[in-house]
Amino acid sequence: MCGIFGIITDREQKLGPILVESGKRLAYRGYDSVGCATVTSDGTIDLRKGVGRIEDVSAELDFPAMRGRRGITQLRWATFGAPSYENAQPHLDSDGDMVGAHNGNVVNNVQLRELFLREGLAVRGTNDGETCVHAVERHFDRNGGDMLAAIRAAYDDLEGDYAFVITHREEHRLYAIKKGSGLVAGLGEGFACVSSDLPSILPLTRQVLYIRDGEIVVLSPQRVELYAVHDGAPIERQSERYDGPLEVAEKGGYPHFMLKEIHEQPVVAGELLHLLNGSRHVDRFLEMLTTGGDRPVYLVGCGTSYHACLLGAYYLNQLAGLAAVPVLGPQFIEQYSQSLGVADRAVFVSQSGETKDILNAVKVMRQRGGRVLGVLNVLGSTLMQASDVYLPLGCGYEISVPATKTFVNQAALFLYLAYRLAKRDTGELDALPSLLSQTLQATGEPSRQVARDLNDWRDMYYLGYGLSHPIALEGALKLKEITYAHCEGIFSSEFKHGPLSAVHDGYPVVFITAPGDEMMMINHVNEVTTRGGRAIAIAAEHTALRANVHDYLSLPPSDRFLSPILATIPAQLMAYHMSVARGLDPDFPRNLSKTLTVD
Ligand code: AGP
Repeated sequence: MCGIFGIITDREQKLGPILVESGKRLAYRGYDSVGCATVTSDGTIDLRKGVGRIEDVSAELDFPAMRGRRGITQLRWATFGAPSYENAQPHLDSDGDMVGAHNGNVVNNVQLRELFLREGLAVRGTNDGETCVHAVERHFDRNGGDMLAAIRAAYDDLEGDYAFVITHREEHRLYAIKKGSGLVAGLGEGFACVSSDLPSILPLTRQVLYIRDGEIVVLSPQRVELYAVHDGAPIERQSERYDGPLEVAEKGGYPHFMLKEIHEQPVVAGELLHLLNGSRHVDRFLEMLTTGGDRPVYLVGCGTSYHACLLGAYYLNQLAGLAAVPVLGPQFIEQYSQSLGVADRAVFVSQSGETKDILNAVKVMRQRGGRVLGVLNVLGSTLMQASDVYLPLGCGYEISVPATKTFVNQAALFLYLAYRLAKRDTGELDALPSLLSQTLQATGEPSRQVARDLNDWRDMYYLGYGLSHPIALEGALKLKEITYAHCEGIFSSEFKHGPLSAVHDGYPVVFITAPGDEMMMINHVNEVTTRGGRAIAIAAEHTALRANVHDYLSLPPSDRFLSPILATIPAQLMAYHMSVARGLDPDFPRNLSKTLTVD
């Protein structure tokens, strides 16, 4: 959530196009407001910002025309302060000498603002990014105009997890600091840059430097210097070459990234299996996973990644007899931290590798001496760096806010690990990419039709039994995330214990069923249909089940472990089509951000 990008160059130029392009590559982090600032050779600051998406604000304020030798872009996902011009970032200090922007959360924002107002600083909004700028400004004069010293002092005042970038108009340098939120620097021919994330850096340079917590970065056009915030001592670290793919955020002919990413699932699943088969990390991962004796292994995630953990727990237990506890990041801390010890291990699952709720849980695990196993999509992320061992999801960039292909690969990865632990032939999983393609083919149009029929409903349920329960939760999450309708996912046998009372004529309930669970599910279907509800099945062909439901989204035949992964596709597609039919943009649902780096 929130994205920052800063660049410093060796000559004055039109920086606007670079700032806009970098901003677009960070747009998944926040789209409540956007702003750009440039500083020219003579120290003039040009600051333009506004509420809305980067395409619109940039066109209105002509970002591409902005010139300078230093530039900052910020994409905001609002936490402190409603989306408004005043709260849009970057921010100026009181007298307009400094300009800066942040991502993350300064938790003592309110107290600091009150202090700054008492001291006579020109506080214009309520946003904590502005607080970062004032916090530096305040120490700047006291430290004889030394930016490094001022930032170090500000660090002591600013509580929370954040990263920010700041520059003073009279000094041809850019400063950035990392405390909890992601920050990467890049070094190229005649410029240096810094960003919340790699995608905005890679089109400019592949020479990168991962910044760690408690480090200040000082950028000049030819150099990236690091200093420890606690004593100001220089830190020696060379930049490294990033050789991963440079993916272009293009829709490839699809109307939305979400639809494109859904259709990429067969390919990325194939790539993941290939990657796992050839990975030396897998053995180490499995060894660590199984060294806890009788202690259960924790599978920790949030949102969609948590649903993958739920499915992973079924796989590990049903296939390999391993006791796994799926748990939300904050719940892991609240429910288990006191009993954790050196024998414990947890798999932390996160697409971004930057989710604060997950990183907090990692920190607790570390404090208790347990092992941290990471499963992540973004290479170089904080989770990757914090893990004893990690496995990548190999999905490439996932741009749309709703996670799709990363879920499928998280599920496939857990299934692969369970197979390995069960000493089953992982070659059996090679059918997955082709089954995913067949599912896209078979359920594409029917999902659109069902979505159209259900589109007037603002309330529905997804039910799943056993292995299909995580998919019911995931289907419901997708639907509420991008249609703004209410939808709940429930373990199907639980429906009669309360929620059944919601059912009346035509009330839609989706039943996701894995092979072997059909006869059980027919009971749950009938409890709904006899009360007038409309039953929609997502399952492989089954005559008896078909005879009991109104709509049938038919999956290709597979086994009970692969089937839940396939069932994800029609659930994703139904949500997608309902969102589009409502005139919404499924890629960027209101109020949300792809990467949540706040508590
Ligand atoms: C899923 O569609 C959501 N965008 C969200 O639930 C997401 O999965 C969650 O925020 C966790 O993100 P992570 O995988 O990057 O940690």
